[in-house]
Amino acid sequence: MGEDDWAILQSNLEATIPVYDRINRFATFGQDQRWRRMVQDRLPDEGKILEIGCGPGSFAENLTGRELTCLDPIAAMLSVAEPRVNNNRLSRGDSPVIFVEGTAESLPFEDSSFDAVCSLFSFRDWYDKKAGLSEALRVLKPGGKLVIVDPAKMNRFHGWLGYLYMRIWVGSYARFVCKQRDHPWKWLTKTYVHFGTTKDYVKMMREIGFSNVQSKVVFPGMATIWQGEK
Ligand SMILES: C[S@@+](CC[C@H](N)C(=O)[O-])C[C@H]1O[C@@H](n2cnc3c(N)ncnc32)[C@H](O)[C@@H]1O
Repeated sequence: MGEDDWAILQSNLEATIPVYDRINRFATFGQDQRWRRMVQDRLPDEGKILEIGCGPGSFAENLTGRELTCLDPIAAMLSVAEPRVNNNRLSRGDSPVIFVEGTAESLPFEDSSFDAVCSLFSFRDWYDKKAGLSEALRVLKPGGKLVIVDPAKMNRFHGWLGYLYMRIWVGSYARFVCKQRDHPWKWLTKTYVHFGTTKDYVKMMREIGFSNVQSKVVFPGMATIWQGEK
């Protein structure tokens, strides 16, 4: 995706904030929280964790313990996420999350600073996935782990079915919820269509230098989990 398209995508993502969780639940048949828990189970129990593309805090609010840093390029996402996540964490006795504005492609952190990096439903939006993965590798400590979940397709035909599902079924629901004809969810279909297959990103992670790269198709076309180590 070019930087111009990425800028349009960001303004569309910002417009989804008030309905984000509701539409996610609908689009994934209520499975999105289960997939977030699967990522959580793959993260170390202790240490410093970075979430890239935290959005409105849908994952971070339930991550217990750990020292968590959340990064997102959209300031409005961070302002919604900060009270939501930190109120939950403080009520559980967890340390507050540090929120940072920035992009995956240019992480504002020192080399080897995190025990794990995760990204949930954000990787497909990164405008330069190789640069983002290289940055994730750079900020991980040796032995640290990267965990990603996003909807990879299995092949071109499957991609078309996914496109129709997103455009017609989820699109109609989004229009109904947003009460807007040209609703922002329409744009999100584009990132789905341009996103590759599970194998594409296994290959890319290996090329960037991750070891022990593994993938698990949790729900074809809706959730693949990739993991790799530095
Ligand atoms: C769909 S939301 C995901 C929110 C959350 N992680 C979750 O579990 O639902 C995707 C987020 O990725 C962010 N994003 C898009 N491009 C990015 C990039 N290049 N670097 C970091 N974050 C990015 C968007 O701003 C958006 O908030």
